[in-house]
Amino acid sequence: MIDQYFMELFERIPRQGPGSKEDTTRAFKAIKSSLKDRPYILDIGCGKGVQTIDLARLSGGHVIALDNHEPFLTELEANAIQAGLDNHVDVYEGDMMSLPFNPESFDLIWAEGSAFIMGLESALEYWHSFIKKDGFAVISDAVYLQDEIPEPVFEFFEEEYPGMLTLNEGIELLKDEEKYRLIDHFTLSKEAWTTHFYEHLKREIDLFRENELSKNLKAKPTLEYLESEIDLYNQFNDYFGYEFWILRKK
Ligand SMILES: C[S@@+](CC[C@H](N)C(=O)[O-])C[C@H]1O[C@@H](n2cnc3c(N)ncnc32)[C@H](O)[C@@H]1O
Repeated sequence: MIDQYFMELFERIPRQGPGSKEDTTRAFKAIKSSLKDRPYILDIGCGKGVQTIDLARLSGGHVIALDNHEPFLTELEANAIQAGLDNHVDVYEGDMMSLPFNPESFDLIWAEGSAFIMGLESALEYWHSFIKKDGFAVISDAVYLQDEIPEPVFEFFEEEYPGMLTLNEGIELLKDEEKYRLIDHFTLSKEAWTTHFYEHLKREIDLFRENELSKNLKAKPTLEYLESEIDLYNQFNDYFGYEFWILRKK
């Protein structure tokens, strides 16, 4: 459920999905030694770009941060200036499904929590041509962590991410991928969901209820929906998570 109130709440929190500096750093370290100096990177579905800033700092390269929601990009630009990284980050308002770049433009395509919009397989297929030979795709994406899935979890993801893979299905799919080699993968920490994402979201939901709901009663279903998502994670976090997939273009 993405409406005006959903976007307003997401504009108020630092990250727009699960993630952490530690997880971004761990994924980057898996490719660092094979990546050229000062790489040219495309960060797809960057949101407000906490990971964009981390990537610019970790890589010393140049990051194009692409998203289709302009307010996120405005804040990302300001954050890059504040971090002294504005020479290393450019923002681009655009659609991940219709990229305006030449083939083989990037040493690395990075996407935290955004590939689900196309579906992992379609995203990998479409983004492949924009990666330089021997370049990398590093993507965090939701998976079922077990093969048996409780019904409330399945019902939620059938709505949000139909066809979402189990971790084992993801490994099978990616190790036999024709166009990429699976170099490494790991499950994001629970703090990536709680400390760095849901705690901020819950605070903003509570503040909205306290200060704005009486004037915006139409927001009620959105607040309830987001709270039910947080409850689902708290109750069933052994059954779903995000997997960082670290791939090299063949
Ligand atoms: C779950 S958020 C992840 C944001 C960020 N990577 C993070 O981890 O905090 C998904 C992002 O994809 C963006 N998005 C949605 N559809 C898009 C599209 N078609 N093209 C580009 N970005 C899109 C949203 O605006 C949002 O910022």
